[in-house]
Amino acid sequence: MGEHKRIGILTSGGDCAGLNAVIRAVASRATLTYGWEVIGILGATAGLMSRPPQYRDFTLPHTEPLLIMGGTILGTTNKGNPFAFPMPDGSLKDRSEEIIEGYHLLNLDALIGIGGDGSLAILRKLAQQGGMNLVGIPKTIDNDVGSTERSIGFDTAFSIATEALDRLHFTAASHSRVMILEVMGRDAGHIALNAGIAGGAHIILLPEIPYDLEKVCEKIHERKNLGRNYTLVVVSEAVCTETGETVTQGWQGEQRRLGGIGQYIANRITEKTGAETRVTVLGHTQRGGIPSPEDRLLASSFGVAAVDLIAAGQYDRMVAWKNREVVSVPIADAIKDYRAVDLNDTLVKTARGLGICLGD
Ligand code: F6P
Repeated sequence: MGEHKRIGILTSGGDCAGLNAVIRAVASRATLTYGWEVIGILGATAGLMSRPPQYRDFTLPHTEPLLIMGGTILGTTNKGNPFAFPMPDGSLKDRSEEIIEGYHLLNLDALIGIGGDGSLAILRKLAQQGGMNLVGIPKTIDNDVGSTERSIGFDTAFSIATEALDRLHFTAASHSRVMILEVMGRDAGHIALNAGIAGGAHIILLPEIPYDLEKVCEKIHERKNLGRNYTLVVVSEAVCTETGETVTQGWQGEQRRLGGIGQYIANRITEKTGAETRVTVLGHTQRGGIPSPEDRLLASSFGVAAVDLIAAGQYDRMVAWKNREVVSVPIADAIKDYRAVDLNDTLVKTARGLGICLGD
């Protein structure tokens, strides 16, 4: 069984479906296979910053149906970078040493951090500074963590966006409207592209492909000329206007809160074509709810593999999904660049092959 270990697990950054399924898998693998102790850190790194550190013991059997529960029972945050932590007096303070001390106070042998590229970069910096044994698990509905084809939460989010398109077809057709669906994806258009194809959208606008309004309107006209009385447009929240501006709802700390490009495009389409438009902004419904079966498989596989990495003493690595297999990669590689939609991707070719307008 090897040497006894006490490992921690935390969720960091925006929540998504499948996080509790990872916690379950980690707890099962670590306690049943290896006989280790597992503790869940509450509130991401804030739990390690608190005194005493805030955690929940997962060594004992848990009673909740974690596999199917949305959100994260550990809590999380996507603000409060510990290296520049916002203090009540408005100043920024480096609180990294408090987190590192929290890890050592808990006598942890290793920490599993579930996060997107931003969180994994912060956790890695902490791990390097404080001698923490870190293993990463990628999660984000945006699916833009580098070195992995899939991140936890994406499949659920893209299924929700697909279902929204399924529903919009009928109401759009009944009223002869152009329906715009705005979906999330901070820097990458994976949700828009995948849901757009699966949900039968006629126009898909991605941040990776600047759009030409003329082309968008041409597609609407073309459909009309073919006797199709409605058009579905899916637009990623990170798409810029024709003049290259990002549409935001203001700022949250140092981060822009995206939102509003759907309404902007709807107004522009109405101006140009006279079409009646309506906008649906899916927002956080894409992050909530029970995880899809695919996300449960990914979460379970990643959780088991992350514990096995610790058993093998392989730290500073992230579990990743490649060709339906779990592999591991250096965290440094995964966080180097976020993974945008590759314009040579099969799905981009598929969309074009289907006659879907990508705005260019
Ligand atoms: O990164 C995940 C994500 O859901 C993005 O798609 C979105 O832009 C952002 O987080 C929203 O963040 P918040 O929950 O802070 O509004």
